[in-house]
Amino acid sequence: MKAFLSNQKMSFLLRSICFLFLISSFLNKFVSSTQHLCHSDQRDALLEFKSEFLIESYAPSWVNKSDCCSWDGITCAATSGKVIGLDLSDGLLYGPLKSSSSLFRLRDLRDLNLARNNFNDSQFPAEFDKLMRLERLNLSGSSLSGQIPINLLQLTKLVSLDLSSYDSLSIDESFLHLLAQNLRNLRELDMSYVNISSEIPHEFSNLRSLRLLDLTNCNLSGEFPSSVLLIPSLESIRLSYNSNMRGNLPVFRENNSLVELTVMFTAFSGKIPFSLGNLSHLSILDLSRNNFVGEIPSSIGNLGIILLLI
Ligand SMILES: *[C@@H]1O[C@H](CO)[C@@H](O)[C@H](O)[C@H]1NC(C)=O
Ligand SMILES: *[C@@H]1O[C@H](CO)[C@@H](O)[C@H](O)[C@H]1NC(C)=O
Ligand SMILES: *[C@@H]1O[C@H](CO)[C@@H](O)[C@H](O)[C@H]1NC(C)=O
Ligand SMILES: *[C@@H]1O[C@H](CO)[C@@H](O)[C@H](O)[C@H]1NC(C)=O
Ligand SMILES: *[C@@H]1O[C@H](CO)[C@@H](O)[C@H](O)[C@H]1NC(C)=O
Ligand SMILES: *[C@@H]1O[C@H](CO)[C@@H](O)[C@H](O)[C@H]1NC(C)=O
Ligand SMILES: *[C@@H]1O[C@H](CO)[C@@H](O)[C@H](O)[C@H]1NC(C)=O
Repeated sequence: MKAFLSNQKMSFLLRSICFLFLISSFLNKFVSSTQHLCHSDQRDALLEFKSEFLIESYAPSWVNKSDCCSWDGITCAATSGKVIGLDLSDGLLYGPLKSSSSLFRLRDLRDLNLARNNFNDSQFPAEFDKLMRLERLNLSGSSLSGQIPINLLQLTKLVSLDLSSYDSLSIDESFLHLLAQNLRNLRELDMSYVNISSEIPHEFSNLRSLRLLDLTNCNLSGEFPSSVLLIPSLESIRLSYNSNMRGNLPVFRENNSLVELTVMFTAFSGKIPFSLGNLSHLSILDLSRNNFVGEIPSSIGNLGIILLLI
């Protein structure tokens, strides 16, 4: 800086710098508070939801009058401050999930993970259909029971649905047809251990974004549509422990994405196709305890399979 700046000019400069500094710190504060302050109705819904259960360790950060966007397990939209994500997975909630739960007031949720909580075998509430913006729903192992309500299938934005349960969930016959019609954006579907007790409809091959399909131990019957095995995006398919389900392996094309194919303890039969050699990404293959005939094709030798049980 030039040495001959007058004192006046100097102090003007200093004052301007101070002023700018104040303005910018004020703006900073203002912007960050409007970005993150959660809406009071959503904060109240969360606090009420918490009070519906016996909770051990989530409580500390969940206090009224603090910004709920900063609480454990909460994600808010950056600009609107609306609660769009709730992740309370892993065993902290104990008690029934009622249809009157304030959870169903959180209408902006896109991502909801309540996996591995203990909802004490309460009935699967029908009110999930209120959460129309949901893209990911995870209720894995959360001790819900009874029939999964069909109106869950109105959540057409779902890309990931995990209903795997070790409890007593079941569905009725129309459920899977409607699922294949409505949930066209699904990339992950895990219904392992759900009592399905029917066959997989052909419409399942219309789920053109599917990457993961887990139907382990669902008491499936009938013939598994082999077109499902040819969905180009499919990476993992698990069909084991469905001893009443018949099926055949199709001719696999090149450009198939399959990484994992497990079909243990089913009634699949026929030849193991030579085209298995086209599954260049395959690393887990389990075809054990089936009715396959003939030889293991030599084309399998080209694959880098890490687990092969036949
Ligand atoms: C949180 O605090 C506000 C303002 O004091 C109050 O109106 C509201 O009822 C409280 N919510 C809960 C769930 O206690
Ligand atoms: C869970 O269910 C059992 C049996 O119905 C009941 O005795 C118990 O009080 C329930 N627990 C809670 C926290 O609701
Ligand atoms: C559901 O949540 C559990 C526990 O966090 C996790 O292990 C599982 O991978 C999740 N499922 C999906 C489909 O992301
Ligand atoms: C599964 O569902 C079928 C058909 O609804 C029923 O007959 C069967 O008893 C159920 N299995 C169990 C273990 O609840
Ligand atoms: C399996 O499904 C059949 C109907 O297809 C039903 O009769 C049977 O009870 C089911 N078994 C179990 C263990 O749910
Ligand atoms: C495999 O994919 C590549 C590029 O995506 C494409 O050029 C090729 O034609 C495909 N091959 C087959 C057999 O579909
Ligand atoms: C791969 O699939 C094509 C048909 O798309 C087939 O002609 C070819 O024989 C298959 N390759 C192997 C190794 O099976």
